[in-house]
Amino acid sequence: MSEQISKRLHWIGVNNPEGRDFHGISTPRGGSYNSYLLSDEYPTLIDGTHQRFLDGYLESLKEVMNPQGIKYIVINHAEPDHSGALNELVSLTGATIVCTEKCRELLEAMGISAEFRTVGNNEEMSIGSLTLRFIMDPMVHWPETMMTSVPEEKVLFSGDLYGTEIAHEALFADEMEDFSELSRDYFALVMRPLHMSVKQAIKRTRELELELLCPSHGPCHRDLRIIDYYERMCTSPEEDKVLIMYASIWGSSKRMAEQLAAGVRAEGMEACVRDICKTNMVSLMAEALTSKGLMLGSLTMLGMYHPLYETVFAFLKLNNQHKKAFVFGTYGWSSAACRGLTQKLSELRYEIVGERDLRFGRPEEEKQLVEDGRQFAIKLKEG
Ligand code: FEO
Repeated sequence: MSEQISKRLHWIGVNNPEGRDFHGISTPRGGSYNSYLLSDEYPTLIDGTHQRFLDGYLESLKEVMNPQGIKYIVINHAEPDHSGALNELVSLTGATIVCTEKCRELLEAMGISAEFRTVGNNEEMSIGSLTLRFIMDPMVHWPETMMTSVPEEKVLFSGDLYGTEIAHEALFADEMEDFSELSRDYFALVMRPLHMSVKQAIKRTRELELELLCPSHGPCHRDLRIIDYYERMCTSPEEDKVLIMYASIWGSSKRMAEQLAAGVRAEGMEACVRDICKTNMVSLMAEALTSKGLMLGSLTMLGMYHPLYETVFAFLKLNNQHKKAFVFGTYGWSSAACRGLTQKLSELRYEIVGERDLRFGRPEEEKQLVEDGRQFAIKLKEG
């Protein structure tokens, strides 16, 4: 389905409401692969689509024009969710692909065969009454990435930047209910590890006179608040909350986590309690990113903490932030989880400010955890 944005601009995208995974992000509300059509003397597509969605994409395009009239396909980003169907699109349209030199190299390595026109930073190209201006933003999200602005329409096609994984019936963010949790998870995985490059791209965005942001995933933005959100997530994403994660078999670590949470809440801070065996790792990483401090707990099993923690640590490393941390554990005949968690978090340069290790985690002992939680929250508030 296509949608008209302005006289010369259409959304030609694909919604995938059933999609439940994107780059490892759990996508409870599906995903979208946006592409845009600029109708001018030389009709131009901004980004392509995923191979899997080519049929629906062509249906949308045909609602607006005969694909054989397309003159250019601008590829801001070579990743297959935007380039996967390029061979078919080029063969159908005969269009020239406009992209960076690095993008051309990547597309050719992927087996894309086409006529290319490569462009550099701030280069402009006329497609009739409209001008395409190319703005390089390498490593947002791959090394070849760029954004394309059209000054006459005051629009920026920003690629993955300012995106969210959500299938949306509404086209604009201001027409939708709150989806910030999905933007947070997308940012944490795709953007935060590259936040220095993202900051540069935000700076370049702010230099433009804009009324509309059109990313390649999720809604378009007329109020531009997403720029402030991205900036905050790059610089100071922490909220007034503590992430308490645990791995439990017989329930002791879980009870400990709940007691800690009661203590944290008693100090007026939010506490998010998550079972690492039941929580999507990307959401867990995003919650770690937006928390002031972390509390990690595990039973001792096989002489160590729960093995799933190795995955947690791999994700924490992506957004390593040197926060304050507290470790807790339970054991039967040999204590190892707390020691292992402390060692691993120290390697990741977290500051361990407390520990509670209980044998079999008897409920009367677990009451100490409320005070531990309270003290941890006080330390966080003190900075
Ligand atoms: Fe939407 Fe980095 O691909």
